[in-house]
Amino acid sequence: MKIDLHATLRAHNTFGFDVSADYLAYLTEVSDIPLFIQKAEEQQAQWQILGGGSNLVLAADLQGYTGLMQIKGRHLLDQTDTHVFIEAMAGEDWHEFVTWTLEQGYGGLENLALIPGTVGATPIQNIGAYGLELSQVMDSLEAFDTQTKKWVQLTAADCQFSYRYSIFKNDTKRYIVSSVCFKLPKLWQPNLTYAELAKAFAEKIEKKQEITPKDIFNKVCEIRSAKLPDPKILGNSGSFFHNPIISTVQYQKIKERFPNVVAYPAESDWKLAAGWLIEQCGFKGCRSGYVGVYDKQALVLVNHGGGTGTELLDLAQQIQNKVFDTFGVKLSIEPVIYS
Ligand code: EPU
Repeated sequence: MKIDLHATLRAHNTFGFDVSADYLAYLTEVSDIPLFIQKAEEQQAQWQILGGGSNLVLAADLQGYTGLMQIKGRHLLDQTDTHVFIEAMAGEDWHEFVTWTLEQGYGGLENLALIPGTVGATPIQNIGAYGLELSQVMDSLEAFDTQTKKWVQLTAADCQFSYRYSIFKNDTKRYIVSSVCFKLPKLWQPNLTYAELAKAFAEKIEKKQEITPKDIFNKVCEIRSAKLPDPKILGNSGSFFHNPIISTVQYQKIKERFPNVVAYPAESDWKLAAGWLIEQCGFKGCRSGYVGVYDKQALVLVNHGGGTGTELLDLAQQIQNKVFDTFGVKLSIEPVIYS
């Protein structure tokens, strides 16, 4: 296991913040995981794992041991009459993996195309986009339990997934994911629950023309690229806040004052479009020093280059305060913060 001292993390977080790690360990084999924990514990040092660094705000240097998840591999694990089971190692790039599954003829992950980050990070926040959540396609995962020092297999039910949530959010230092297994149907059906996708394929559906997983994949990439900045060009971590879930009573009060509010029913509650709330408060496209709010999607905060995590968190706080004062709604931050 290669370890660098005082290594810059600029290339390892999608905001491009220039902070460093005391010890940066490259985890390339499954056996590196227990070794990494052993080293950190021997020196009574703190530790953290980085995947693609796409859901992180690095507002300070990282102390102790930082493990860069780089374990690669993907293969068909098993199949039944109805499903294929595909395993991917935690360090695989998510979008490359999605692309590969389609090339192999396995549809089912296409709605989650172009999400930045690694496979191992996807269950942590139960990634979701364009009508699909990871919880609907994940079968199980393998992880190292840092408490018992044993390898465990957790099913999707064990992970207790809900909107942008899993057990890993509660206890961030308990498990290190080494691989994820996906269960994809052999009889593929397009998932067109996201309104813009349904609209794009309405004509094909009406004319009973064939729709392929690749068609959906291409459309998702097109919609995503139009709304969200490419982190290779403009530093960002996707949505910076959760879409807040509020009670029907609270929703009705907001709707009375703001008839155009954008919201969706979520079981017995309502999910508000945080991007709309932020835009109404006048932040869309705003700039504060080297950081700002993306001009095509107000839910995305960006680093124009040279910004710091602290500046970004200050801007986030201003947004949270204004949204609360205007709508009485608390916005919670989606990425993990190191400060
Ligand atoms: N809206 C505005 N102004 C904005 C942005 C959005 O008014 O600046 C309103 C529009 O009415 C729009 C609606 O909000 O129709 C919803 O916007 P969008 O479809 O872009 O989705 P979102 O709710 O802002 C969520 C996820 C995204 C995911 C999209 C598509 C969260 C926190 N974000 O965003 O996930 O790609 O839906 O499914 O749930 C991410 O988590 O990093 C992420 C990008």
